[in-house]
Amino acid sequence: MSAVAPVITIDGPSGSGKGTVSRLLAEKLGWHLLDSGALYRLVALAAQRRSVALEDVEGLAGLAVDLDTEFPVIDGVSRVYLEGDDVTLAIRAEECGAAASRVAALPAVREALLERQRAFRRLPGLVADGRDMGTVVFPDAPLKIFLTASISARADRRWKQLREQGVDANLDALYRDLEERDARDAQRSVSPLKAAPDAVEVDSTAMDIPAVMARILSLIADRGVQ
Ligand code: DC
Repeated sequence: MSAVAPVITIDGPSGSGKGTVSRLLAEKLGWHLLDSGALYRLVALAAQRRSVALEDVEGLAGLAVDLDTEFPVIDGVSRVYLEGDDVTLAIRAEECGAAASRVAALPAVREALLERQRAFRRLPGLVADGRDMGTVVFPDAPLKIFLTASISARADRRWKQLREQGVDANLDALYRDLEERDARDAQRSVSPLKAAPDAVEVDSTAMDIPAVMARILSLIADRGVQ
């Protein structure tokens, strides 16, 4: 019988540091990485490119089923491709994130992406970053983290990140956008953003990335995951 690859799930709201922590953790462990948010963003981008309306549930579910995507690592950097085009930056746009949040509220889209996400589970292990990794996609994961931070801290981090990229953003608008997106992600009827009952909650409001990493690595050691 082939061994089942272990999974560490990292769920939480936008801006909690999940993405960075998941990437660093996968690198440190030498495990695969699933950025599940990228899949919802890709469906949103595919919809925009093909002029499928965000109200067209069947059309969106069809896009999710047929999503032609690749996640190659080029010169040590992970890239995201949609239908052969490098869309690594395009899917990070605020507009694409907002559309992804709407697309992600549709049960048919979530269902269509389920097996695609589970296929990322391969030896030696997987770090899965998202909203429902521990509750729905990998309920048997041996370690589940729920990473949070206050809305102010998250808006502030996003603002700094955008500034570094030379984008002039408005802090109040970012705060309101996060608030709105949190509400939509937490209130949707399918797979809402919530901690799995067996998840360990880590509040990163007053923690930097190395502190969060240290906390997770100590949980990995305690649990004997690996
Ligand atoms: O993590 P992110 O910002 O890239 O995610 C984009 C959107 O997709 C976000 O609004 C929530 C949604 N999402 C989800 O519903 N379930 C996941 N597992 C990952 C993301």
